[in-house]
Amino acid sequence: MRLTDDFKDEIRARVRMSDLVGRKIQLKRQGREFAGLSPFKKEKTPSFFVNDEKKFYHCFASGEHGDAFDWLMKMEGLSFMEAAEQLASIAGLPLPKADPDAARRAEASKSLIEWMELAQRFYARQLRSGSGSDARHYLERRGYGPAEWETYEIGYAPDSRTALKDELIAAGAKPAELIDCGLLIAPDDGGAPYDRFRGRIMFAIRDPRNRLVAFGGRAMSANARAKYLNSPETPIFHKGNNLYRYPQARKAAADPKSGARGLIVAEGYFDAIALARAGLEHAVAPLGTALGEDQMQLLWRAGGEPTLCFDGDNAGRMAANRAAERALPLLEPGRTLRFVFLPEGKDPDDILRDDGASALKEALGHTRPLASILWDIEAEKEPLDDPDRRAGFRKRLRALLYRIENPAVREEYQREFDQKLEQIFGATRRSGGRYFKKGAALGATAETKRLVETGPVPAKLRHLLLAAVEYPEIAENQAERLSGLKCGPLDTLRDAILDAMAEGHVELSGGMRNYLAGQGFAAVLKRLDLEKQPMRAALGGDTATVIQREEAWTRIASDYMEQTGYNIKRQEMRSRLAEEIENDDADTVRGLMEIHRRGKARRQTDQ
Ligand code: CTP
Ligand code: MN
Repeated sequence: MRLTDDFKDEIRARVRMSDLVGRKIQLKRQGREFAGLSPFKKEKTPSFFVNDEKKFYHCFASGEHGDAFDWLMKMEGLSFMEAAEQLASIAGLPLPKADPDAARRAEASKSLIEWMELAQRFYARQLRSGSGSDARHYLERRGYGPAEWETYEIGYAPDSRTALKDELIAAGAKPAELIDCGLLIAPDDGGAPYDRFRGRIMFAIRDPRNRLVAFGGRAMSANARAKYLNSPETPIFHKGNNLYRYPQARKAAADPKSGARGLIVAEGYFDAIALARAGLEHAVAPLGTALGEDQMQLLWRAGGEPTLCFDGDNAGRMAANRAAERALPLLEPGRTLRFVFLPEGKDPDDILRDDGASALKEALGHTRPLASILWDIEAEKEPLDDPDRRAGFRKRLRALLYRIENPAVREEYQREFDQKLEQIFGATRRSGGRYFKKGAALGATAETKRLVETGPVPAKLRHLLLAAVEYPEIAENQAERLSGLKCGPLDTLRDAILDAMAEGHVELSGGMRNYLAGQGFAAVLKRLDLEKQPMRAALGGDTATVIQREEAWTRIASDYMEQTGYNIKRQEMRSRLAEEIENDDADTVRGLMEIHRRGKARRQTDQ
């Protein structure tokens, strides 16, 4: 939902800046303005001003400046909509609802979240009751006492199939709601639903808006079937859009005193808590899976340089590598990742218990930048002791660079790699330092040249072309549109795809790919294939029907053409050719293929 400018102005008009800022900072009236000590920079004399008439704050010490929205986004790390929500409630204005459906869903979510909150209180009580004695001992053995249970919302789900269910039903919940929010499991055979979490230490998972949306449960015995059990995907919980402790951590990071440049990401729940206990309250954890793209975006909303913290062992390195590579297409100036590897075999929770808080802080102090992790990933793959291996190494680095979509960031990484290469292997030829100069320094074959040329191609276009390869029926049905796409360096690939169609190669399974490989596109395809997942997602995911996929493709194609313009010259040629062949045949697949065949012949004679 987008707020109208009128609505934003209405909010600005109703919220007095000096009141809003005054909640955080002591202000003193100075003529028409209010002055105070800068929240952005340590200072002794006030250089921070708030002006109620102009409805903004300005900090002369740091140059920070903004309105009520900016203030909350900056100081509390809120997103725009979250800030709007808070301000609207201060202003006494209801936020406009996007549509009645959304309003109904919001209402339903609200009641699910209430049941989650009630469950949390139940789990908290259980931990302190008779049935919780094993859990209490377990936690205390690990160094977590009542103060931590309270602060970090740790509870206990008793080993019973109906304890929680009975409690919540008595409080007025309907079984269907409890199944919806994942607290109960409904057996397939239609039997009575029962408690999902039994005999587990419970961690409360709050969404970015601080609503309790899920639980993680740790088994206490080593031989439990699953060490951790998490809430399933529900209407209120999507694992990929959440991080354990995110709202608390974001708030902590937003406090300038924290000195944090971004959140810390540990692997487990106990680890995130251990870090918080050691004073690093801006720590989060993913929810049992590797960090996904949306989770990275969440991290960046709280600070540009989150630190991912991994075990120093092999599995930790692999996980770090995956995260590093996944981040590449998302990088932007001011949005990167840093990495910490802990001493082997110890997670933050172990370090806190064995070596204490200062040791844990110390371990987190030595972070490494993303570029250096990437370099190591490739450098460690094989020794660099002969020219072939060094060439392979350069090529792999280049392949990483291609995946960085932001040109400014890519250039910086390129420069960094260039410098390192020069230090290690000695000066390269002048032109050799620049990977993106058509690969000339490498004596590129047609194939590497093509690979090099696919660098700065927009994601939309890559998805469109990869989809045409992957789903030849799209290429066939949409040949017209496809041929009108301006593909820049990939024009040759687009034409080859159309050729494959026109020449009937697609009738064999794998025919399209074989044909393209034969035409020197193997490396290009390999690179495009790295984006199979996002491409499929863009076409509606695994559940999309053939028709939905094609519709999604045409939507992306029109978007893309709107940005780049249609390839007019080609279109003109096509309409001339369409006139040449029988007009009423021009729209059929056969007709389109014929047009393409003639067009191709014409282009070849032109050259
Ligand atoms: N996890 C999960 N499901 C599992 C195992 C792990 O969701 N079956 C998630 C949990 O979030 C867990 C994290 O992965 O916190 C890391 O798991 P692991 O390293 O095995 O455990 P620890 O967090 O170290 O937990 P503990 O210290 O209690 O052993
Ligand atoms: Mn652990």
